[in-house]
Amino acid sequence: MKPLIVGNWKCNPTTLLEAKRIFDSVKRGVKNIKGAETVICPPFIFLSVLTPDQNVKLGAQDCFWEEKGPYTGEVSPSMLEGLGVKYVIVGHSERRKYFGEADEMIKKKLGAVLKAGLKPILCIDKISQIPKDIKRGYILAYEPLFAIGSGKPCTIEKAKKMRNSIQKKVKLPVLYGGSVNSQNAPGYIKEAGFSGLLVGGASLKPREFVDIIKEVC
Ligand code: PGA
Repeated sequence: MKPLIVGNWKCNPTTLLEAKRIFDSVKRGVKNIKGAETVICPPFIFLSVLTPDQNVKLGAQDCFWEEKGPYTGEVSPSMLEGLGVKYVIVGHSERRKYFGEADEMIKKKLGAVLKAGLKPILCIDKISQIPKDIKRGYILAYEPLFAIGSGKPCTIEKAKKMRNSIQKKVKLPVLYGGSVNSQNAPGYIKEAGFSGLLVGGASLKPREFVDIIKEVC
């Protein structure tokens, strides 16, 4: 499997113009790179106006578990699928922390994402957050809380240990996330054996994000 590099824009940028600028700039930067799968997860509102291609796919940062109905403010996996979205991040630690997302809700979201034919990326920071009945088709992302948005990435050794423990439990691709940049990126793939990266802050800087992708190919 090619390294899977996922950019999580979180609640950024604030304008459509800027979103298009970043997206198109990444598209241009990775045009001739065939050694990685690149995904960008912008805010929902930009999904219908950014145009994915062979090299840059679209992902969502979250979704609801029902397909439709009286659920004010929610976005369903079928709606995402209709927009050409291929991946959905589920259970990000910021959703758990600020929006009270608990394991029960996360489980329902995972099921709904798979049912819609999309690939769920389940974020965890401890092994106990891996659902018991986890199926094929899932991607895990190990994101230690201290490393998220802090500029203090997890050491390669500690990340590798965690990756090995996860792989003992489930045979699924595991991404690393938390203060990834173009300098530390290759270590997580080439030394620690991760299947890819979940990149927050650095994914908003097109040049840096493209460098991360080049470094891991
Ligand atoms: P960061 O965020 O790269 O800014 O640390 C990673 C994430 O939250 O997915």
